[in-house]
Amino acid sequence: MTKYVINGGKPLYGEVEISGAKNAAVAIIPAALMVEGVCRIENLPNISDVSTLLNILKQMGADIRAVNKRTIDIDCSRVRTPSATFDMMQRIRASYYLIGALLGRFGRADVAMPGGCNFGGVRPIDQHVKGFSAMGAKVSVRNGIVSAVTEGNLRGSTVYMDVVSVGATINIMLGATLADGVTYIENAAREPHIVDLANFLNSMGADVRGAGTSAIKIRGVKKLTGGFYSIIPDQIEAGTYMAAVAGAGGRVVIKDVIPKHLDCISRKLREMGVTIVDLEDSIIVERTGALIKTHVKTMPYPGFPTDMQPQLSTVLCLAEGTSIVTEGVWDNRFKFVDELAKMGCSIRVTERTAVIEGISHMTGAPIKAGDLRAGAALVIAGLCARGETIIDGVGYIERGYEKMIEKLTGIGADIKAIYVPDEPKVQKRA
Ligand code: EPZ
Repeated sequence: MTKYVINGGKPLYGEVEISGAKNAAVAIIPAALMVEGVCRIENLPNISDVSTLLNILKQMGADIRAVNKRTIDIDCSRVRTPSATFDMMQRIRASYYLIGALLGRFGRADVAMPGGCNFGGVRPIDQHVKGFSAMGAKVSVRNGIVSAVTEGNLRGSTVYMDVVSVGATINIMLGATLADGVTYIENAAREPHIVDLANFLNSMGADVRGAGTSAIKIRGVKKLTGGFYSIIPDQIEAGTYMAAVAGAGGRVVIKDVIPKHLDCISRKLREMGVTIVDLEDSIIVERTGALIKTHVKTMPYPGFPTDMQPQLSTVLCLAEGTSIVTEGVWDNRFKFVDELAKMGCSIRVTERTAVIEGISHMTGAPIKAGDLRAGAALVIAGLCARGETIIDGVGYIERGYEKMIEKLTGIGADIKAIYVPDEPKVQKRA
């Protein structure tokens, strides 16, 4: 197993380049299933969630060729099956996007219940089911398999989201693209990757309007044809490096970003005493003085993102005073605080609220990541802490962060990956 070893307490200086957005890539790759012809996708992040999805498509018969490190050609013309190997699907949350794409293409989908990050609590798909049912599909969930079938094409319909769901908005958008008639999604999610998916679909011949607002209109088209598309930069990866500089101190230019997408993060960090300068496609983050406490509640975009909550909570551990963090999206996303406690942090969690008492410094410790963003938060803690931090469970981090070790080393962090052989199983005596 791989672990990360960090010798913390060093401010960060230099430049870091941000990769393509994970959560856009994992929606755009399944969308390619509906395209007749070759899709060239650029700025694809090199992370394990993306390679798992590409392997799922390959198993289904897609022809996938690497053009260069960040660009692939996907041709799904020869895919004939509406299902894929279940064990691979269970590894990632985004496998549920295959439902919308396969229903659109074949009128049928058999997909394993999505896996992905487990930060406690249930990750329901009732809004996805509600949307597909409104569009004429019969959906059943049995033994961990979601089966959806429709006679002919899905039918355009109006779908009102009872909760603002990124996944359901994307899935219904996918299904509606090749449906008969017009679909309206009301109370839709507005995240940048929803706009990115709509732009991808439109560039392949779809008719999606209003993405980025809470009312999306999709007029079904007969077919999508190949083309090329470049994925937007990853808002959360950029935010993670911003938080790292805020916590460890220093001055870093974060390159290849869309500063507008980072506004919700920049505003909070500025309140905390961090200097942030927006340039055209990069930002400068600098922190030299003391961190100031703040309060934050996570919300759907353009609110403060839940996927930045663990990283920001970690930095707030070093802010003077008492900060209150409220998780407004997920039921239980504070499991990582037990690990921070091992480093001397003082956080009290009651249901969806964490009360953080600032401390003067963290102390390195052996800790374990339990999910992707918790893992990123623990890396930030390691960078801030005095002494050595050893992080277990880094597979989660590699699901969503491209070359994190290289990028952090490039801005002066002392971090390395080490391979530790699994302990041999002890044979019991007969
Ligand atoms: C996406 O998950 C992201 N994943 C998550 O990022 C992110 O935390 C989340 O959106 C919120 O921004 C991907 O894009 C692959 P939701 P998703 O449907 O789509 C409730 C990361 O770290 N809900 O927007 O699964 C749900 O319980 C990952 O990159 C229902 O009640 O999230 C939650 O409280 C982790 N019924 C809220 O809505 C449903 O049918 C938001 O979930 C669906 C969701």
